[in-house]
Amino acid sequence: MWEYTDTVRDHFLNPRNAGVLEDANVIGEAGSLACGDALKLMLKVSPEGVIEDAKFQTFGCASAIASSSMATEMIMGKSIHEAMELTNKAVAEALDGLPAHKMHCSVLAEEAIKNALNDYFDKNNIPYDAEQFKETDHDELHAQVHG
Ligand code: FES
Repeated sequence: MWEYTDTVRDHFLNPRNAGVLEDANVIGEAGSLACGDALKLMLKVSPEGVIEDAKFQTFGCASAIASSSMATEMIMGKSIHEAMELTNKAVAEALDGLPAHKMHCSVLAEEAIKNALNDYFDKNNIPYDAEQFKETDHDELHAQVHG
């Protein structure tokens, strides 16, 4: 039974910013061993710390692809600090909702963004609070839902 919103379906069937970003200077990755889905996020961040371009490659379910697509749209043009604030909940809301048992898929997008920003801070010797990059236990989340 089709239980996705039109927005999810649109972003799954016509993903924005899918592919390889040749001039990316920051890479973020996230994955779940439980479901085998993985997401690679490539960003081009300007010297001023603005995300000028973003592309993703997602090997996974429809919700993960739609979340990746929406997340790239939401962070483009934003500063790295604004992007840090983006949550999987906000991505899911922008998609007009995800089925409850698919919410965890949007976590991949948030994790990949955080992983990319962590990479950016490391590369540029920008101090940060490691607490901000605590990993979500995606596999546990997945197991909770799927048993
Ligand atoms: Fe795990 Fe979608 S099923 S990310």
